[in-house]
Amino acid sequence: MLTELEKYTEESAEKAAKILKNGGIVAIPTETVYGLAANALDENAVRSIFVAKGRPQDNPLIVHISNFEMMKPLVTDIPELAKRLAEQFWAGPLTMIFDKTEVVPEETSGGLSTVAVRMPANEAAREIIEKCGFPLAAPSANTSGKPSPTKAEHVFEDMNGKIPLIIDDGECSVGVESTVICFRNGKIHILRPGGITREMLAEFAEVEVDKAVEAAPKADEKVLSPGMKYKHYSPKADVFIVNAHGDDFKKFCQDNGGEKTIFLSCGEREGCMDYGETSEIQAHRLFALLRHADEIGAEKVYVEIPSKYGVGLAVYNRLLRAAAFRIIETS
Ligand code: TXA
Ligand code: MG
Repeated sequence: MLTELEKYTEESAEKAAKILKNGGIVAIPTETVYGLAANALDENAVRSIFVAKGRPQDNPLIVHISNFEMMKPLVTDIPELAKRLAEQFWAGPLTMIFDKTEVVPEETSGGLSTVAVRMPANEAAREIIEKCGFPLAAPSANTSGKPSPTKAEHVFEDMNGKIPLIIDDGECSVGVESTVICFRNGKIHILRPGGITREMLAEFAEVEVDKAVEAAPKADEKVLSPGMKYKHYSPKADVFIVNAHGDDFKKFCQDNGGEKTIFLSCGEREGCMDYGETSEIQAHRLFALLRHADEIGAEKVYVEIPSKYGVGLAVYNRLLRAAAFRIIETS
């Protein structure tokens, strides 16, 4: 299959919608990462997403909507708290989990009785959904296990020959996937941290962070968010988090340098690649740098531990998985 890469315009959006209406799949931009989209209500279309990504069948997809009305047929009930969060954070990088109706096929929900819904802020994404008139299921548009794509070129690397069209809207502004939450006993339960932070959510209700966010699940443990149990976001290189800052990290780099080793530092530092001084910049750059590590043939990537505050928790959560939970203590 020939894969076309087209800049987002009125015409390319029209072309994307036409493919989607015919049951095909298209890679679309969002503000978080690029998504691999198909009609969320068409099980055959959704199946082809799993094939293109090589994704395990039990890992459910997020359903993307362009207006609040679109959600109503998909869910049995919308809690008051969810309405208030939607008012504040939609359109934006927040995904909420609801009990699903029969309208949502099992393929989309990974066999669960719930459905994850989000309204992306990216204009191209919303325009394409609007033109389709149905919600789009869209996981990140990477091959399963690889770092998520934050540029159309990343999607092309992974999906060339597998899908007909990629809509290019430049670099994703947030750079890590949406925050995924569910509601438990009136509390907000964070399953995956993202651009809408626990501090922002805490203005609305008590917030708990799922234990899978910062720890490796045990072998047979049931996880609330199936995606959290898979090794993820990994380049070919071995990634390690280094629990050191400043001069301690500098010393670590001096002691551990090698031909195929790279270092990612929080801010500019000699001999290191800078992945950003703030959590927002780190989120924006992380996945592209992990892909870059592969391009230059790196075998080891040592990363200065990020802050876990705000969007930092999302950066840390993705890094932990890229590093297969390996943290090096320096003292
Ligand atoms: O920012 C994003 O959310 C991006 C863009 C494309 O919108 N999408 C994305 O999708 O990250 P994906 O499939 O890569 O990640 C979806 C996550 C997975 O961890 C999945 O297990 C979880 O959401 N999830 C989806 N439906 C769920 C449900 N009903 N219950 C619990 N977790 C769910
Ligand atoms: Mg993903």
